[in-house]
Amino acid sequence: MKIAVLKERRAHETRVAATPETVKKFTGLGAEVAVETGAGADASIPDAMFEEAGAAIAADATAAVDGADIVLKVSRPLTSDEGGPDELALLNAGQILVAALNPLMNKPQVEAFAAAGVTAFAMELMPRITRAQSMDILSSQANLAGYKSVLDATDAFGRALPMMMTAAGTIAPARVLVMGAGVAGLQAIATARRLGAIVSATDVRPAAKEQVESLGATFVMVEDEETAEAETAGGYAKEMSDDYKRKQAALIAETITKQDIVICTALIPGRPAPTLISEDMVKTMKPGSVIVDLAVESGGNCTLSAPGEIVEAHGVRIVGHHNVPGRVPVDASALFAKNLLNFLTPFIDAETGALRIDWEDELVQGTLVAHDGKVVHPMLTGDGG
Ligand code: NAI
Repeated sequence: MKIAVLKERRAHETRVAATPETVKKFTGLGAEVAVETGAGADASIPDAMFEEAGAAIAADATAAVDGADIVLKVSRPLTSDEGGPDELALLNAGQILVAALNPLMNKPQVEAFAAAGVTAFAMELMPRITRAQSMDILSSQANLAGYKSVLDATDAFGRALPMMMTAAGTIAPARVLVMGAGVAGLQAIATARRLGAIVSATDVRPAAKEQVESLGATFVMVEDEETAEAETAGGYAKEMSDDYKRKQAALIAETITKQDIVICTALIPGRPAPTLISEDMVKTMKPGSVIVDLAVESGGNCTLSAPGEIVEAHGVRIVGHHNVPGRVPVDASALFAKNLLNFLTPFIDAETGALRIDWEDELVQGTLVAHDGKVVHPMLTGDGG
C-alpha cells in the first residue's frame, strides 16, 4: 500500500500533511510513503528528515502520486479556475484523497472528485464524538489559530497587554473581547489571560459560559429562549434569527467601545460567518484599538476586514491574515498530520500492511464525500445531515 504526500501549492499554505513522526508510523504499519520534494520546506522539515523516517522522496507531484492508494494533502486541490495547476488532474480513478476539502462551500469540486472516480474524505466533517477527537482537524488547527490571533493582535497594538507598575508610571492592562468561544476562542482567551489582559467573551451557545469563566474571563451574551436551541447535536452554532441578531448587535455596540482588542472567531459550519461588528461599531472604538478577524476567509465577523490585509479604519487596525494556523506551520503540520494518521491507522492491516477501509464505520461515513463515481455525503446530496 502506497501513501503519497504532496507539496501544497495553494497560496499562503505553509503546512504539510505528514511529518517524519507520521511517516515512521505509516511505514511501521507496512505502508510505503512517497513525499514530494520540498513538501515540508515551509514547516521546517527538509526532505532528508522525511527520508530518514523511511519515506521515498519523489521528484515531483506526478511521481509521488504514481501508483499511490492514498494521497494526503492539507488544503483541497487547486483548480485551473483558481490559477492552477489543476491538482485534481494529478489523481487517478480509484485513488483516495484525504484532506481538508471544505466540501460544503465547494460542492462543484466534490462533484469533480466523483466524476474523476476519486474517493475523497473531507476531514473537517469528522463527527464530534469522543473516538474522533484525535482526528479532529478543526480543533487542532483552531486551537493554534486562537493562540496566534492574540499574538497577531499584540503585533498591531501600540500598547502592552499586562498591567505594569514602573518607576515612570503605571501601564493599565488591556481589555480583550473574544467573539465566539469555541476552540479558537477559548485558546485566545487563555493566551490573552497569560499575557495579563482583562478578558471577556461572547457566544450564542450558553454552554460556553462555564468554559469562558473557568479560564478567568467574563461572559457576555444575549440569553433568550432562542439560545437554548442555538447549539446543534454536533456542538456547533446555528444561524440566529434577525430579532436575536438585533439584540446581540446592541450588546456588542455597548461592550466594544470599552475594548482595546477584539478577537473574532465566530463561525457557522457551511454558511458565511455571522456579521457581528459593523463600521458604526468600529467608529466607537478607541484610536489604536485592534480587531483580529479569524473568520475573514469565511466572509468575516467584521464588515471592514479583508483577507490578507491589515485595514486601518477610523483609527482601528483590523487584521485579516490568511490561513492563521499556517502562521504556526510546524505545530499546525504536526497536529494535522497526527489527525490523518489517527484516522487512517485502523484501516491499515497490521499483518499485511494492506488497506481495508470499513465503509460502515461512522467516521468513514461521516467524512466520505465522493466514492464510486458519486457524491455520497448526506449534507451534500440533500438527504439530511
Ligand atoms: P466553530 O469554529 O464552528 O465556531 C466558533 C464559535 O463561534 C462557536 O463557539 C460558535 O458557537 C460561535 N458562534 C457562532 N455564531 C456566533 C454568533 N452569531 N455570535 C457569537 N458566537 C457565535 O466552533 P468550534 O470552535 O469548532 O466548536 C464548537 C463547539 O464544539 C465547542 O463547544 C467545542 O467545545 C465543541 N467541540 C467538541 C468536540 C468533541 O466533542 N469532539 C471537539 C471540538 C469541539
